[in-house]
Amino acid sequence: MMNHKLTIALSKGRILDDTLPLLKAAGIEPLEDVRTSRKLIFPTNHENVQVVVIRATDVPTYVSHGAADMGISGKDVLMEYGDEDLYEPLDLQIATCRLMTAGMVGVPEPKGRLKVATKFVNIAKRYYAERGVQVDIIKLYGGMELAPIMNLADRIVDIVDTGNTLKANGLEPKEMIAPISSRLVVAKAAMKMKHATIQPLIERLAAAVEQRNG
Ligand code: ATP
Ligand code: PRP
Repeated sequence: MMNHKLTIALSKGRILDDTLPLLKAAGIEPLEDVRTSRKLIFPTNHENVQVVVIRATDVPTYVSHGAADMGISGKDVLMEYGDEDLYEPLDLQIATCRLMTAGMVGVPEPKGRLKVATKFVNIAKRYYAERGVQVDIIKLYGGMELAPIMNLADRIVDIVDTGNTLKANGLEPKEMIAPISSRLVVAKAAMKMKHATIQPLIERLAAAVEQRNG
C-alpha cells in the first residue's frame, strides 16, 4: 500500500505569518495555532497532511532528505543550500526582498583582496568568483551591518528590503545579487512517489497566490 501521508515543512519566523493564509486558502489548516504552540509537529484538517514548523535554514535539509515531502523556504536560503534534488514549482511571492552586497557609504571596493562578511557564505563565494574578485569570506550569524563599521569587512552580503537597516548604520547597497521571495519546494523523490497528492496541492496553492495578488 502506498504511503499518501504528506508532511509540509514551514519556516518559522518572518515567513510563517504570510504562509498560513496561503495554506488556508489552499484548504489546509493546522488544528492549533502554530505561532504560539511549543510543539514542532501539527496535524491539520486533512487527515493525511501534517505540518512541521522549523528554522527557515533547516527547511531545505528536511525536504531534500525526504523527511518532509514539501516545504516553504526563502530563495536566499535555497540558493545558499544549493540542492539539485529539490524542485521549486511555485513562487509564493511572499517575504519579497533583495540579496545585495553593501558597504560603508561612499567607500569603493579596495584594490586587492576583498573582505566579505556574511551568513550566505556559498552565495558570496559564487558571486565574487564569477566576477573574478579575490575574497576572504568571514562567516557571521547575524547583524552583518556591524562588520564594515568595525573594520571586520569591506563588504557584506545580506538581505535588503526597505534599506532602513543599512541606512541606520551608515551603509548603502552596492550591487544586487538576486531578487528574493519565498518558494514552494518539493523533493524530487516525493514528486515521483506522491505525485497524485502533491500535484493538486501545488495547483491549489498556485490559485491561492493568484487570488491573493488579485
Ligand atoms: P533563521 O532563523 O533560520 O536563521 P532568518 O533569521 O533569516 O533564519 P527570518 O528572519 O524569519 O529567518 O527570514 C526568513 C526569510 O524571510 C529569509 O530567508 C528571507 O527570504 C526573508 N526575509 C528576511 N529578511 C527580510 C526582510 N527584511 N524583508 C522581507 N523578507 C525578508
Ligand atoms: C533582515 C536582514 C536585514 C534587514 C533588512 O534582518 O538581515 O538586516 O532584515 O531589512 P530592511 O532593508 O527593511 O531594513 P531581520 O530583521 O530578519 O533580523 P535578523 O538579523 O534577525 O535576521
